[in-house]
Amino acid sequence: GDVAVLVPAAGAGVRLGPGRPKALRLLAGEPLLVHAVRRLAAAPSVRTIVVAAPLAELDAVRDLLAPVAPVTVVPGGAERQASVAAALAAVPPGPEIVLVHDAARALTPPELVEAVAAAVRAGRPAVIPVLPVVDTIKEVGAEETVLGTVDRSVLRIVQTPQGFRRSVLAAAHAAAGDALTDDAGLVEKQGVPVSCVPGSEYALKITRPFDLALAEHLLAAGG
Ligand code: CTP
Ligand code: MG
Repeated sequence: GDVAVLVPAAGAGVRLGPGRPKALRLLAGEPLLVHAVRRLAAAPSVRTIVVAAPLAELDAVRDLLAPVAPVTVVPGGAERQASVAAALAAVPPGPEIVLVHDAARALTPPELVEAVAAAVRAGRPAVIPVLPVVDTIKEVGAEETVLGTVDRSVLRIVQTPQGFRRSVLAAAHAAAGDALTDDAGLVEKQGVPVSCVPGSEYALKITRPFDLALAEHLLAAGG
């Protein structure tokens, strides 16, 4: 493998409701982070995994992941971007392809990890998995009054893993100003072209209780 994966897993999971940090919340009896790391480790390209965990859970996360895959666990930051930066700083010399993957996308198939890595290996500096937008999208103004209908044919839903040539991600993070919710956004600001590959419904981000329930059903159905 020639790929390092950074796994931001330090968020609280406020939108999931009260409980432990989201990466440690259970899905079919195992923490979301365990599901996510197991699938990453099953991708043949992946050599190195660095997890950014909640500061108070570093030892718990190391113990949980020890039987799953060899991983490095570092403390995350207050924002996702800081967590990614902390994980990036812990990648040893070697891997020239770096993926960033949300722990909250616990059911992401190894095949999607391979597809993103392959596109970077083929020469793309930055690669994101995307899905088409299926709903009608409206722009609204004050008092939720509709201003217009957006042309959804040019819109995409963006997932992770997002893949980068290592130097490209490092430069983007070094130059980062305002926090963004995705790493490709930082790279775009550097003027680097970002390419899309087809995403996967299974790479949904578990954000709200409905998503966790959906993930339980997908797993029970053999997902
Ligand atoms: N993340 C992180 N460090 C942070 C915030 C988020 O590593 N300071 C991670 C989360 O653990 C998650 C991913 O970034 O795997 C995507 O973030 P999100 O889905 O927003 O998770 P949370 O921030 O935990 O959820 P919420 O916003 O509902 O609190
Ligand atoms: Mg968040």
